[in-house]
Amino acid sequence: MKTLAVLVDRLQQAMRGSRKPINEIVADEIRLAIGSGMLAPGERLPSTRALATALGISTVTVASAFTRLVDSGLLVAQVGRGTFVGAPPPAPAAAAIHPASDIWLPAEQPGARQRLVARWMSAVDAGSGLNLVGGYADPRLPPAQGYLRHFRRLLKEKPEAPFAFTLGLGDAAAREAVAGFAAAAFGVATRAEQVFVGASAHQFLDVVVRSFLEPGDVVVCDSPTYYGALDLFALYGLRVATVPSDGEGPLPDALEQVLAIHRPKLLYLTGSPRNPEGGVPGPSRQQQIMALVAAHPIVTVEDSSLFPYVYDQKATPLKSLDQMGQVITLCSFSKMLFAGLRVAAAIASPGIARRLGNALQSYVRMGAALPQQAVAAYVASDRFFGDLAAARTIYRSRRDALAAALAASPLLAAGLRPPAGGLSQWLRLPDGVSGQALCERLGLRRVFALPGDVFMPFPDNTGAIRLSFAQNDEDDLAAGAAAVIDAVAELQRDGRRVPAGQLA
Ligand SMILES: Cc1ncc(COP(=O)(O)O)c(C=O)c1O
Repeated sequence: MKTLAVLVDRLQQAMRGSRKPINEIVADEIRLAIGSGMLAPGERLPSTRALATALGISTVTVASAFTRLVDSGLLVAQVGRGTFVGAPPPAPAAAAIHPASDIWLPAEQPGARQRLVARWMSAVDAGSGLNLVGGYADPRLPPAQGYLRHFRRLLKEKPEAPFAFTLGLGDAAAREAVAGFAAAAFGVATRAEQVFVGASAHQFLDVVVRSFLEPGDVVVCDSPTYYGALDLFALYGLRVATVPSDGEGPLPDALEQVLAIHRPKLLYLTGSPRNPEGGVPGPSRQQQIMALVAAHPIVTVEDSSLFPYVYDQKATPLKSLDQMGQVITLCSFSKMLFAGLRVAAAIASPGIARRLGNALQSYVRMGAALPQQAVAAYVASDRFFGDLAAARTIYRSRRDALAAALAASPLLAAGLRPPAGGLSQWLRLPDGVSGQALCERLGLRRVFALPGDVFMPFPDNTGAIRLSFAQNDEDDLAAGAAAVIDAVAELQRDGRRVPAGQLA
Protein backbone atom coordinates (compact mmCIF):
# COMPACT_ATOMS: atom_id res chain seq x y z
CA MET A 1 0.00 0.00 0.00
CA LYS A 2 2.82 2.32 0.90
CA THR A 3 4.48 1.60 -2.46
CA LEU A 4 1.22 2.37 -4.24
CA ALA A 5 0.78 5.70 -2.45
CA VAL A 6 4.38 6.78 -3.08
CA LEU A 7 4.30 5.75 -6.73
CA VAL A 8 0.97 7.45 -7.32
CA ASP A 9 2.29 10.64 -5.78
CA ARG A 10 5.43 10.60 -7.94
CA LEU A 11 3.49 9.77 -11.07
CA GLN A 12 0.87 12.45 -10.50
CA GLN A 13 3.62 15.00 -10.12
CA ALA A 14 5.46 13.75 -13.19
CA MET A 15 2.29 13.79 -15.32
CA ARG A 16 1.40 17.34 -14.38
CA GLY A 17 2.27 19.56 -17.35
CA SER A 18 4.28 16.84 -19.14
CA ARG A 19 3.74 16.29 -22.86
CA LYS A 20 5.29 12.82 -22.89
CA PRO A 21 2.99 9.80 -23.57
CA ILE A 22 1.62 8.55 -20.25
CA ASN A 23 3.01 5.03 -20.60
CA GLU A 24 6.50 6.56 -21.02
CA ILE A 25 6.06 8.68 -17.91
CA VAL A 26 5.01 5.62 -15.92
CA ALA A 27 7.96 3.57 -17.19
CA ASP A 28 10.46 6.39 -16.60
CA GLU A 29 9.28 7.11 -13.06
CA ILE A 30 9.39 3.45 -12.06
CA ARG A 31 12.85 3.21 -13.61
CA LEU A 32 14.01 6.20 -11.61
CA ALA A 33 12.36 4.90 -8.44
CA ILE A 34 14.36 1.69 -8.87
CA GLY A 35 17.55 3.59 -9.70
CA SER A 36 17.24 5.81 -6.66
CA GLY A 37 16.53 2.80 -4.45
CA MET A 38 12.99 3.84 -3.58
CA LEU A 39 11.90 0.50 -4.99
CA ALA A 40 14.20 -2.27 -3.77
CA PRO A 41 15.08 -5.51 -5.60
CA GLY A 42 12.39 -8.09 -5.00
CA GLU A 43 9.78 -5.49 -4.03
CA ARG A 44 6.32 -6.15 -5.39
CA LEU A 45 4.70 -3.48 -7.52
CA PRO A 46 1.04 -2.54 -7.20
CA SER A 47 -1.17 -4.31 -9.74
CA THR A 48 -1.68 -2.56 -13.07
CA ARG A 49 -5.34 -2.18 -12.22
CA ALA A 50 -4.70 -0.62 -8.80
CA LEU A 51 -2.19 1.81 -10.23
CA ALA A 52 -4.41 2.70 -13.20
CA THR A 53 -7.45 3.29 -10.97
CA ALA A 54 -5.50 5.46 -8.54
CA LEU A 55 -4.13 7.55 -11.40
CA GLY A 56 -7.38 7.69 -13.36
CA ILE A 57 -5.74 6.23 -16.49
CA SER A 58 -6.32 3.05 -18.45
CA THR A 59 -4.99 -0.34 -17.31
CA VAL A 60 -3.64 -0.89 -20.83
CA THR A 61 -1.40 2.18 -20.47
CA VAL A 62 0.08 0.95 -17.18
CA ALA A 63 0.43 -2.59 -18.55
CA SER A 64 2.37 -1.28 -21.55
CA ALA A 65 4.80 0.53 -19.23
CA PHE A 66 5.25 -2.63 -17.13
CA THR A 67 5.86 -4.73 -20.26
CA ARG A 68 8.64 -2.40 -21.37
CA LEU A 69 10.32 -2.66 -17.99
CA VAL A 70 9.95 -6.43 -17.94
CA ASP A 71 11.49 -6.58 -21.44
CA SER A 72 14.47 -4.55 -20.25
CA GLY A 73 14.93 -6.84 -17.25
CA LEU A 74 14.14 -4.21 -14.64
CA LEU A 75 10.91 -5.88 -13.57
CA VAL A 76 10.05 -9.55 -13.35
CA ALA A 77 6.47 -10.72 -13.97
CA GLN A 78 5.40 -13.91 -12.20
CA VAL A 79 2.13 -15.45 -13.37
CA GLY A 80 -0.47 -15.36 -10.64
CA ARG A 81 1.85 -13.56 -8.17
CA GLY A 82 2.41 -10.11 -9.63
CA THR A 83 5.25 -7.95 -10.87
CA PHE A 84 8.46 -7.50 -8.88
CA VAL A 85 11.56 -5.35 -9.06
CA GLY A 86 14.27 -7.53 -10.66
CA ALA A 87 16.93 -9.07 -8.47
CA PRO A 88 20.42 -7.58 -8.71
CA PRO A 89 22.48 -9.33 -11.37
CA PRO A 90 24.73 -12.06 -9.98
CA ALA A 91 28.17 -10.74 -9.11
CA PRO A 92 30.83 -11.83 -11.59
CA ALA A 93 33.64 -14.03 -10.28
CA ALA A 94 35.85 -12.14 -7.86
CA ALA A 95 38.78 -12.22 -10.28
CA ALA A 96 36.74 -10.20 -12.78
CA ILE A 97 36.33 -7.31 -10.40
CA HIS A 98 38.76 -4.58 -11.20
CA PRO A 99 40.85 -3.95 -8.08
CA ALA A 100 40.21 -0.22 -8.30
CA SER A 101 36.48 -0.79 -8.03
CA ASP A 102 36.79 -1.89 -4.40
CA ILE A 103 34.44 -0.03 -2.16
CA TRP A 104 35.77 2.51 0.23
CA LEU A 105 33.81 3.21 3.38
CA PRO A 106 35.39 6.46 4.42
CA ALA A 107 37.06 6.04 7.79
CA GLU A 108 38.21 9.62 7.80
CA GLN A 109 36.55 12.45 9.67
CA PRO A 110 34.07 14.32 7.47
CA GLY A 111 35.64 17.55 6.30
CA ALA A 112 39.18 16.16 6.50
CA ARG A 113 39.92 17.12 2.92
CA GLN A 114 38.50 20.61 3.24
CA ARG A 115 40.64 21.10 6.33
CA LEU A 116 43.75 20.16 4.39
CA VAL A 117 42.82 22.52 1.55
CA ALA A 118 42.04 25.27 4.07
CA ARG A 119 45.51 24.81 5.53
CA TRP A 120 47.12 25.59 2.17
CA MET A 121 44.67 28.40 1.43
CA SER A 122 45.40 30.09 4.72
CA ALA A 123 49.12 29.72 4.05
CA VAL A 124 48.53 31.81 0.93
CA ASP A 125 46.41 34.33 2.84
CA ALA A 126 48.97 34.59 5.59
CA GLY A 127 51.52 36.35 3.48
CA SER A 128 52.80 37.06 0.05
CA GLY A 129 53.40 34.05 -2.07
CA LEU A 130 52.35 32.46 -5.29
CA ASN A 131 48.82 31.07 -5.15
CA LEU A 132 48.59 27.90 -7.21
CA VAL A 133 46.08 26.46 -4.73
CA GLY A 134 42.68 27.88 -5.52
CA GLY A 135 41.43 26.79 -8.93
CA TYR A 136 39.20 29.86 -8.80
CA ALA A 137 38.49 32.30 -11.61
CA ASP A 138 40.44 35.54 -11.80
CA PRO A 139 38.23 38.47 -10.65
CA ARG A 140 40.25 40.89 -12.82
CA LEU A 141 38.93 39.27 -16.03
CA PRO A 142 35.87 40.33 -18.10
CA PRO A 143 33.30 37.89 -16.60
CA ALA A 144 33.71 39.21 -13.05
CA GLN A 145 33.79 42.81 -14.25
CA GLY A 146 30.72 42.27 -16.47
CA TYR A 147 28.79 40.90 -13.51
CA LEU A 148 29.82 43.87 -11.35
CA ARG A 149 28.42 46.32 -13.92
CA HIS A 150 25.00 44.68 -13.63
CA PHE A 151 25.25 44.46 -9.85
CA ARG A 152 26.03 48.19 -9.54
CA ARG A 153 23.29 49.16 -11.98
CA LEU A 154 20.70 47.16 -10.03
CA LEU A 155 21.86 48.72 -6.79
CA LYS A 156 21.54 52.21 -8.28
CA GLU A 157 18.11 51.57 -9.76
CA LYS A 158 16.79 49.76 -6.68
CA PRO A 159 18.63 50.88 -3.53
CA GLU A 160 16.49 48.50 -1.48
CA ALA A 161 17.63 45.45 -3.56
CA PRO A 162 20.12 44.16 -0.92
CA PHE A 163 17.26 43.62 1.52
CA ALA A 164 15.37 41.26 -0.79
CA PHE A 165 15.45 37.51 -0.32
CA THR A 166 14.34 34.59 -2.45
CA LEU A 167 12.76 31.33 -1.41
CA GLY A 168 14.66 28.03 -1.66
CA LEU A 169 14.04 27.45 -5.37
CA GLY A 170 15.76 30.69 -6.33
CA ASP A 171 14.84 34.03 -7.85
CA ALA A 172 12.24 33.67 -10.64
CA ALA A 173 14.12 35.89 -13.13
CA ALA A 174 17.35 34.03 -12.39
CA ARG A 175 15.67 30.65 -12.98
CA GLU A 176 14.30 31.94 -16.29
CA ALA A 177 17.69 33.33 -17.36
CA VAL A 178 19.54 30.13 -16.41
CA ALA A 179 17.00 28.08 -18.38
CA GLY A 180 17.91 30.12 -21.48
CA PHE A 181 21.59 29.80 -20.68
CA ALA A 182 21.30 25.99 -20.21
CA ALA A 183 19.61 25.68 -23.59
CA ALA A 184 22.47 27.61 -25.23
CA ALA A 185 25.30 26.04 -23.23
CA PHE A 186 24.18 22.42 -22.85
CA GLY A 187 21.95 22.12 -25.93
CA VAL A 188 18.96 21.05 -23.87
CA ALA A 189 15.55 22.71 -24.07
CA THR A 190 15.00 23.72 -20.45
CA ARG A 191 12.08 25.35 -18.68
CA ALA A 192 12.43 27.55 -15.62
CA GLU A 193 10.62 24.91 -13.47
CA GLN A 194 13.56 22.57 -14.10
CA VAL A 195 16.11 25.08 -12.85
CA PHE A 196 17.04 25.98 -9.28
CA VAL A 197 19.27 28.86 -8.38
CA GLY A 198 21.03 29.03 -5.05
CA ALA A 199 24.28 29.85 -3.32
CA SER A 200 26.48 26.96 -4.30
CA ALA A 201 26.94 23.91 -6.49
CA HIS A 202 28.26 22.09 -3.44
CA GLN A 203 25.03 22.83 -1.59
CA PHE A 204 23.00 21.43 -4.49
CA LEU A 205 25.09 18.26 -4.39
CA ASP A 206 24.35 18.05 -0.68
CA VAL A 207 20.61 18.30 -1.33
CA VAL A 208 20.79 15.66 -4.08
CA VAL A 209 22.60 13.30 -1.72
CA ARG A 210 20.10 13.91 1.07
CA SER A 211 17.16 13.48 -1.30
CA PHE A 212 18.23 10.27 -3.02
CA LEU A 213 20.62 8.39 -0.72
CA GLU A 214 20.81 6.93 2.74
CA PRO A 215 23.81 6.03 4.92
CA GLY A 216 25.51 2.90 3.57
CA ASP A 217 24.35 3.48 0.00
CA VAL A 218 26.95 3.30 -2.72
CA VAL A 219 28.00 6.25 -4.83
CA VAL A 220 30.27 5.86 -7.84
CA CYS A 221 32.67 8.60 -8.79
CA ASP A 222 35.71 8.93 -10.93
CA SER A 223 39.14 9.14 -9.40
CA PRO A 224 40.63 11.65 -8.83
CA THR A 225 37.60 13.83 -8.22
CA TYR A 226 36.39 17.03 -6.53
CA TYR A 227 37.50 16.74 -2.89
CA GLY A 228 34.39 18.52 -1.56
CA ALA A 229 32.21 15.73 -2.94
CA LEU A 230 34.33 13.15 -1.11
CA ASP A 231 33.93 15.08 2.15
CA LEU A 232 30.15 15.07 1.65
CA PHE A 233 30.04 11.36 0.94
CA ALA A 234 31.99 10.75 4.17
CA LEU A 235 29.64 13.03 6.11
CA TYR A 236 26.60 11.03 5.04
CA GLY A 237 28.22 7.62 5.62
CA LEU A 238 28.07 6.64 1.96
CA ARG A 239 30.23 3.94 0.50
CA VAL A 240 32.30 5.06 -2.44
CA ALA A 241 33.20 2.96 -5.46
CA THR A 242 35.61 4.35 -8.00
CA VAL A 243 35.97 3.51 -11.65
CA PRO A 244 39.31 3.30 -13.40
CA SER A 245 39.53 6.31 -15.67
CA ASP A 246 41.59 7.70 -18.47
CA GLY A 247 41.80 11.37 -19.54
CA GLU A 248 38.16 11.26 -20.68
CA GLY A 249 36.83 9.93 -17.40
CA PRO A 250 35.49 6.52 -16.36
CA LEU A 251 36.25 3.61 -18.69
CA PRO A 252 32.87 2.32 -19.89
CA ASP A 253 33.54 -1.40 -19.40
CA ALA A 254 34.81 -0.77 -15.88
CA LEU A 255 31.80 1.43 -15.13
CA GLU A 256 29.49 -1.29 -16.39
CA GLN A 257 31.05 -3.76 -13.96
CA VAL A 258 30.82 -1.38 -11.06
CA LEU A 259 27.16 -0.63 -11.80
CA ALA A 260 26.34 -4.34 -12.00
CA ILE A 261 28.31 -5.35 -8.91
CA HIS A 262 27.64 -2.51 -6.50
CA ARG A 263 24.21 -1.28 -7.66
CA PRO A 264 25.07 2.30 -6.71
CA LYS A 265 22.39 4.90 -6.20
CA LEU A 266 24.37 7.85 -7.50
CA LEU A 267 26.93 8.42 -10.22
CA TYR A 268 28.91 11.58 -9.56
CA LEU A 269 31.01 12.93 -12.42
CA THR A 270 32.90 16.19 -12.50
CA GLY A 271 31.64 16.91 -16.02
CA SER A 272 33.61 18.67 -18.72
CA PRO A 273 36.27 19.67 -17.90
CA ARG A 274 36.91 17.12 -15.20
CA ASN A 275 38.27 18.36 -11.92
CA PRO A 276 41.17 18.07 -11.11
CA GLU A 277 42.63 16.52 -14.27
CA GLY A 278 41.02 18.87 -16.81
CA GLY A 279 40.14 16.11 -19.29
CA VAL A 280 37.18 16.58 -21.62
CA PRO A 281 35.22 13.44 -22.59
CA GLY A 282 34.56 13.19 -26.33
CA PRO A 283 31.10 12.51 -27.81
CA SER A 284 31.61 8.79 -28.20
CA ARG A 285 32.71 8.35 -24.55
CA GLN A 286 29.72 10.39 -23.41
CA GLN A 287 27.35 8.28 -25.50
CA GLN A 288 28.77 5.10 -23.96
CA ILE A 289 28.44 6.47 -20.44
CA MET A 290 24.91 7.69 -21.06
CA ALA A 291 23.87 4.31 -22.49
CA LEU A 292 25.09 2.64 -19.28
CA VAL A 293 23.33 5.20 -17.11
CA ALA A 294 20.08 4.60 -18.99
CA ALA A 295 20.41 0.82 -18.73
CA HIS A 296 21.08 0.94 -14.98
CA PRO A 297 18.65 3.60 -13.97
CA ILE A 298 20.72 5.65 -11.63
CA VAL A 299 20.60 9.29 -10.67
CA THR A 300 23.63 10.99 -12.19
CA VAL A 301 25.17 14.30 -11.22
CA GLU A 302 27.20 16.05 -13.90
CA ASP A 303 29.05 18.73 -11.98
CA SER A 304 29.92 21.05 -14.85
CA SER A 305 31.17 23.98 -12.86
CA LEU A 306 33.95 25.02 -15.23
CA PHE A 307 32.45 24.07 -18.57
CA PRO A 308 33.01 27.48 -20.31
CA TYR A 309 36.73 26.94 -19.86
CA VAL A 310 37.30 24.15 -22.37
CA TYR A 311 40.14 25.03 -24.73
CA ASP A 312 40.95 22.63 -27.50
CA GLN A 313 37.76 20.82 -28.35
CA LYS A 314 34.00 21.05 -27.97
CA ALA A 315 32.49 19.50 -24.85
CA THR A 316 29.52 17.12 -25.15
CA PRO A 317 27.49 17.49 -21.96
CA LEU A 318 26.00 14.24 -20.70
CA LYS A 319 22.81 16.21 -20.19
CA SER A 320 22.50 16.74 -23.96
CA LEU A 321 22.24 12.93 -24.40
CA ASP A 322 19.93 12.32 -21.45
CA GLN A 323 16.71 10.92 -22.92
CA MET A 324 15.39 9.52 -19.64
CA GLY A 325 15.87 12.61 -17.52
CA GLN A 326 18.37 11.00 -15.13
CA VAL A 327 21.08 13.65 -15.22
CA ILE A 328 21.22 16.57 -12.81
CA THR A 329 23.60 19.23 -14.08
CA LEU A 330 25.26 21.51 -11.56
CA CYS A 331 26.93 24.70 -12.64
CA SER A 332 28.51 27.28 -10.45
CA PHE A 333 28.63 30.91 -11.49
CA SER A 334 31.07 31.37 -8.60
CA LYS A 335 33.48 29.08 -10.45
CA MET A 336 32.89 30.78 -13.80
CA LEU A 337 33.05 34.42 -12.62
CA PHE A 338 34.67 34.77 -9.18
CA ALA A 339 34.67 32.65 -6.05
CA GLY A 340 33.02 35.17 -3.72
CA LEU A 341 29.89 35.44 -5.88
CA ARG A 342 28.00 32.49 -4.34
CA VAL A 343 25.48 31.84 -7.10
CA ALA A 344 25.01 28.42 -8.68
CA ALA A 345 22.31 26.45 -10.47
CA ALA A 346 20.99 22.91 -10.68
CA ILE A 347 19.19 21.76 -13.83
CA ALA A 348 17.11 18.60 -13.70
CA SER A 349 14.39 16.78 -15.63
CA PRO A 350 10.82 17.62 -14.58
CA GLY A 351 10.46 14.37 -12.58
CA ILE A 352 13.63 14.86 -10.55
CA ALA A 353 13.10 18.63 -10.33
CA ARG A 354 9.92 18.18 -8.35
CA ARG A 355 11.65 16.03 -5.76
CA LEU A 356 14.66 18.33 -5.58
CA GLY A 357 12.41 21.37 -5.32
CA ASN A 358 10.64 19.93 -2.28
CA ALA A 359 13.98 19.22 -0.63
CA LEU A 360 15.34 22.67 -1.42
CA GLN A 361 12.32 24.29 0.14
CA SER A 362 13.02 22.43 3.37
CA TYR A 363 16.81 22.49 3.47
CA VAL A 364 17.69 25.82 1.93
CA ARG A 365 14.50 27.80 2.41
CA MET A 366 15.85 31.30 1.66
CA GLY A 367 18.65 32.98 -0.26
CA ALA A 368 19.99 36.44 -1.12
CA ALA A 369 18.10 37.88 -4.10
CA LEU A 370 20.46 40.61 -5.33
CA PRO A 371 23.39 38.44 -6.53
CA GLN A 372 20.95 36.10 -8.25
CA GLN A 373 19.20 39.02 -9.97
CA ALA A 374 22.52 40.49 -11.11
CA VAL A 375 23.53 37.08 -12.52
CA ALA A 376 20.15 36.89 -14.30
CA ALA A 377 20.65 40.29 -15.90
CA TYR A 378 24.23 39.52 -16.91
CA VAL A 379 23.52 36.01 -18.26
CA ALA A 380 20.65 37.37 -20.38
CA SER A 381 22.79 40.25 -21.70
CA ASP A 382 24.55 40.06 -25.05
CA ARG A 383 27.97 40.42 -23.38
CA PHE A 384 27.95 37.25 -21.29
CA PHE A 385 29.21 34.61 -23.73
CA GLY A 386 31.70 37.07 -25.26
CA ASP A 387 33.16 37.83 -21.83
CA LEU A 388 33.52 34.11 -21.09
CA ALA A 389 35.27 33.66 -24.45
CA ALA A 390 37.68 36.51 -23.62
CA ALA A 391 38.53 34.89 -20.27
CA ARG A 392 38.94 31.53 -21.98
CA THR A 393 41.63 32.97 -24.27
CA ILE A 394 43.53 34.35 -21.28
CA TYR A 395 43.29 31.12 -19.30
CA ARG A 396 44.46 29.18 -22.34
CA SER A 397 47.66 31.29 -22.52
CA ARG A 398 48.21 30.84 -18.79
CA ARG A 399 47.77 27.10 -19.15
CA ASP A 400 50.27 27.04 -22.00
CA ALA A 401 52.78 29.22 -20.12
CA LEU A 402 52.73 26.93 -17.09
CA ALA A 403 52.96 23.75 -19.16
CA ALA A 404 55.85 25.12 -21.25
CA ALA A 405 57.77 26.15 -18.12
CA LEU A 406 57.22 22.75 -16.45
CA ALA A 407 58.23 20.92 -19.63
CA ALA A 408 61.70 22.47 -19.29
CA SER A 409 62.36 19.63 -16.86
CA PRO A 410 62.66 16.29 -18.72
CA LEU A 411 61.73 14.60 -15.44
CA LEU A 412 58.39 16.41 -15.27
CA ALA A 413 57.74 16.48 -19.01
CA ALA A 414 57.09 12.72 -18.87
CA GLY A 415 54.08 13.14 -16.55
CA LEU A 416 52.83 16.35 -18.11
CA ARG A 417 49.57 16.49 -19.99
CA PRO A 418 48.27 20.06 -20.38
CA PRO A 419 44.56 20.03 -19.50
CA ALA A 420 41.96 20.28 -22.28
CA GLY A 421 39.95 22.49 -19.94
CA GLY A 422 39.68 23.89 -16.44
CA LEU A 423 41.84 26.21 -14.43
CA SER A 424 44.49 23.81 -13.11
CA GLN A 425 47.32 21.61 -14.21
CA TRP A 426 47.30 18.09 -12.72
CA LEU A 427 50.91 17.03 -12.56
CA ARG A 428 52.03 13.45 -12.07
CA LEU A 429 55.35 13.33 -10.28
CA PRO A 430 58.37 11.14 -10.92
CA ASP A 431 58.44 7.84 -9.00
CA GLY A 432 59.20 8.22 -5.33
CA VAL A 433 58.19 11.90 -5.08
CA SER A 434 55.07 12.38 -3.01
CA GLY A 435 52.63 15.22 -3.61
CA GLN A 436 52.49 16.09 0.09
CA ALA A 437 56.25 16.27 0.45
CA LEU A 438 56.48 18.43 -2.65
CA CYS A 439 53.81 20.86 -1.37
CA GLU A 440 55.74 21.21 1.90
CA ARG A 441 58.95 22.01 0.02
CA LEU A 442 57.11 24.45 -2.25
CA GLY A 443 55.62 26.12 0.82
CA LEU A 444 59.14 26.86 2.05
CA ARG A 445 59.66 28.70 -1.24
CA ARG A 446 56.38 30.63 -0.74
CA VAL A 447 54.74 28.75 -3.61
CA PHE A 448 51.46 27.07 -2.65
CA ALA A 449 49.81 24.14 -4.41
CA LEU A 450 47.53 21.24 -3.47
CA PRO A 451 48.74 17.68 -2.90
CA GLY A 452 47.06 15.22 -5.27
CA ASP A 453 45.80 12.87 -2.59
CA VAL A 454 43.18 15.43 -1.50
CA PHE A 455 41.36 14.45 -4.70
CA MET A 456 41.77 10.69 -4.40
CA PRO A 457 38.85 8.70 -2.99
CA PHE A 458 41.37 6.15 -1.74
CA PRO A 459 44.07 8.26 -0.08
CA ASP A 460 47.44 6.90 -1.09
CA ASN A 461 49.81 9.84 -0.82
CA THR A 462 49.54 10.19 -4.56
CA GLY A 463 52.55 11.24 -6.56
CA ALA A 464 50.66 14.16 -8.06
CA ILE A 465 49.93 17.81 -7.32
CA ARG A 466 47.38 20.28 -8.64
CA LEU A 467 48.73 23.60 -9.80
CA SER A 468 46.11 26.24 -10.50
CA PHE A 469 47.10 28.71 -13.19
CA ALA A 470 43.85 30.72 -12.99
CA GLN A 471 44.92 33.75 -11.00
CA ASN A 472 48.51 34.27 -12.14
CA ASP A 473 50.21 36.14 -14.93
CA GLU A 474 52.57 34.25 -17.18
CA ASP A 475 55.80 35.45 -15.52
CA ASP A 476 54.56 34.33 -12.10
CA LEU A 477 53.59 30.96 -13.54
CA ALA A 478 57.09 30.55 -14.96
CA ALA A 479 58.54 31.35 -11.51
CA GLY A 480 56.14 28.83 -9.92
CA ALA A 481 57.18 26.15 -12.41
CA ALA A 482 60.86 26.83 -11.67
CA ALA A 483 60.15 26.35 -7.96
CA VAL A 484 58.40 23.03 -8.69
CA ILE A 485 61.33 21.81 -10.81
CA ASP A 486 63.78 22.84 -8.10
CA ALA A 487 61.81 21.23 -5.25
CA VAL A 488 61.32 17.96 -7.15
CA ALA A 489 65.06 17.75 -7.82
CA GLU A 490 65.74 18.44 -4.14
CA LEU A 491 63.34 15.67 -3.03
CA GLN A 492 64.96 13.24 -5.44
CA ARG A 493 68.42 14.08 -4.10
CA ASP A 494 67.18 13.59 -0.53
CA GLY A 495 65.60 10.26 -1.49
CA ARG A 496 68.89 9.01 -2.89
CA ARG A 497 70.88 10.04 0.21
CA VAL A 498 71.16 7.08 2.63
CA PRO A 499 69.98 8.14 6.08
CA ALA A 500 72.94 8.15 8.54
CA GLY A 501 71.32 5.74 11.01
CA GLN A 502 71.15 3.00 8.37
CA LEU A 503 74.83 2.97 7.46
CA ALA A 504 75.78 0.37 10.07
C1 LIG B 1 33.72 20.18 -9.41
C2 LIG B 1 33.27 21.21 -8.41
N1 LIG B 1 32.00 21.25 -8.04
C3 LIG B 1 31.55 22.15 -7.14
C4 LIG B 1 32.39 23.06 -6.57
C5 LIG B 1 31.84 24.03 -5.57
O1 LIG B 1 31.12 25.02 -6.23
P1 LIG B 1 30.42 26.16 -5.34
O2 LIG B 1 31.50 27.10 -4.93
O3 LIG B 1 29.41 26.77 -6.24
O4 LIG B 1 29.82 25.45 -4.19
C6 LIG B 1 33.72 23.07 -6.91
C7 LIG B 1 34.61 24.02 -6.25
O5 LIG B 1 35.79 23.93 -6.20
C8 LIG B 1 34.18 22.13 -7.87
O6 LIG B 1 35.45 22.11 -8.23
